Amino acid sequence: ALKVAGATLLAGTAWVSYELYRESNPAAQEPQSATFPDGSPRKTLVVLGSGWGSVTLLKNLDTTLYNVVVVSPRNYFLFTPLLPSTPVGTVELKSIVEPVRSITRRRPGEVIYYEAEALEVDPQSKKVRIRSVEQGEHKYEMELNYDCLVVGVGAQPTTFGTPGVYEHASFLKEIPDAQDIRVKVMNNIEKAAALSPNDPERKRLLSFVVVGGGPTGVEFAAELQDYVDQDLSKWMPELSKEIKVTLCEALPNILNMFDKSLWQYAQDLFKQEKIDLKVNTMVKNVTATHITTKCGDQLEELPYGVLVWATGNAPRDVSKSLMKKLDQQTSPRGLLINDKLQLLGAEDSIYAMGDCTFYPGLFPTAQVAHQEGEYLAHVLKKQHKIDHLRWQLADAEPSQVPRITARLEKAEAAIQPFKYNHQGALAYIGSEKAIADIAIGESKYRLAGSWTFLFWKSSYLVMCLSFRNRILVALDWLKVSFLGRDSSV
Ligand code: FAD
Ligand code: NAI
Repeated sequence: ALKVAGATLLAGTAWVSYELYRESNPAAQEPQSATFPDGSPRKTLVVLGSGWGSVTLLKNLDTTLYNVVVVSPRNYFLFTPLLPSTPVGTVELKSIVEPVRSITRRRPGEVIYYEAEALEVDPQSKKVRIRSVEQGEHKYEMELNYDCLVVGVGAQPTTFGTPGVYEHASFLKEIPDAQDIRVKVMNNIEKAAALSPNDPERKRLLSFVVVGGGPTGVEFAAELQDYVDQDLSKWMPELSKEIKVTLCEALPNILNMFDKSLWQYAQDLFKQEKIDLKVNTMVKNVTATHITTKCGDQLEELPYGVLVWATGNAPRDVSKSLMKKLDQQTSPRGLLINDKLQLLGAEDSIYAMGDCTFYPGLFPTAQVAHQEGEYLAHVLKKQHKIDHLRWQLADAEPSQVPRITARLEKAEAAIQPFKYNHQGALAYIGSEKAIADIAIGESKYRLAGSWTFLFWKSSYLVMCLSFRNRILVALDWLKVSFLGRDSSV
């Protein structure tokens, strides 16, 4: 079998030969080395995902300490907080992505990247089966051996089994989702413009429904209404008045993670902005043209032209398959980890972080995944030191044993549990207003309005992954304030 950096090409499949793949990706195949100059082993660290957790880990990791292999079907990092701004063109998609290659290139040691998805992890034999996303003759499937695995595969949108959602609704999780929504919104506007004002089909096409009053649904509904009020109203003044944005939320209020004063403020603003907010309203069924809502005992059929579904997260298939392999994985909500982010049942070799995990008190946010990535970079550095000391101990002269053992104990004690530092939550709610629930130490600050919007903007600029992203996002905002949104598809 062909083995490179812990990778074995699976035999007997219809995939391209290893040599052919190597020809097209020569650089990707070169590992650093199996050992360090002193002869100690260099472990293989496989990182799954290129999102908030994994990229933060990579940015903070000393990549010379491991043979680092990154596997992700997405060859870029996506700055999700600004994703709701993209379907209507407030921010351009290219401004909020950063190629994985540009991140790995800047690391001190070589990092191998496979544009592939992990299909299955075998914690017993320490292997991950991956499949390339590339189509056609260069498609491959391989097994990667790992000494240490970090699972940061995020989550997929949940539908709670609501019939018709996958067939008819759009999600707002990834770049193709944002593109899909943009095309649907713009096409519907043009289709509606060709119909007579009394045609009920025109009304349906111009009904934009968002399901889920969490921050994703709220921020997108707000952006959509901004687009209608600030841009479309100039080009198509009559038609823009017919557009109706509706937000359905199953609970009694939206934005549950915010303080009451803030979600109340957002709900009042939605009323002023004429967003039709339907709380206590659960969507039970979706067809190509209608949703069925349930409010109390009342069922209602609501026509829609574009439906955006944002009702939270569910584990991905690779996480579910891993859960099934470990008896300790008893939660359907995500991979169970301990306070050092070690996967329950595979504590010696697998870490997991971010949206793919479930740990009480840690929410599926970028803030958590980011801090976990930083923490794991620190842990992996310490772990390397521990491994090295253990290697030294195995061959040590008796006189050296006490000294090495003391250092080993000190290094082991240095790995403290992960401590999350919640800095607060921010959300854009439309009409250039935002809300902020800020936590500084024990103190809490609740802010809402236009100044908070400026705070929201500056916070996200600071949080952007790279200088390039920061400049592009700032220019997008500047462009929109002078020239309006670019809504071409
Ligand atoms: P992700 O960032 O989702 O990354 C997962 C990675 O794994 C991706 O690269 C993906 O391609 C890859 N992957 C998927 N399947 C596989 C596989 N089988 N094998 C290998 N790799 C795989 N949080 C905030 O704190 N503040 C915000 O303002 C905010 N805004 C948001 C707006 C939107 C629209 C959305 C959808 C989320 C927002 N979040 C926000 C939540 C935040 O984005 C997530 O909590 C965060 O992305 C989680 O990071 P992660 O690394 O766990 O997963
Ligand atoms: P969410 O889980 O926060 O909210 C989903 C909402 O959908 C819930 O309020 C739920 O009651 C509602 N819902 C579920 N099923 C429904 C149905 N059938 N009909 C009507 N309503 C239904 O999900 P969201 O917004 O996708 O966020 C996911 C994660 O990402 C969260 O942890 C969130 O905090 C984070 N995030 C943070 C942002 C921020 O801080 N600004 C922005 C976007 C996401």
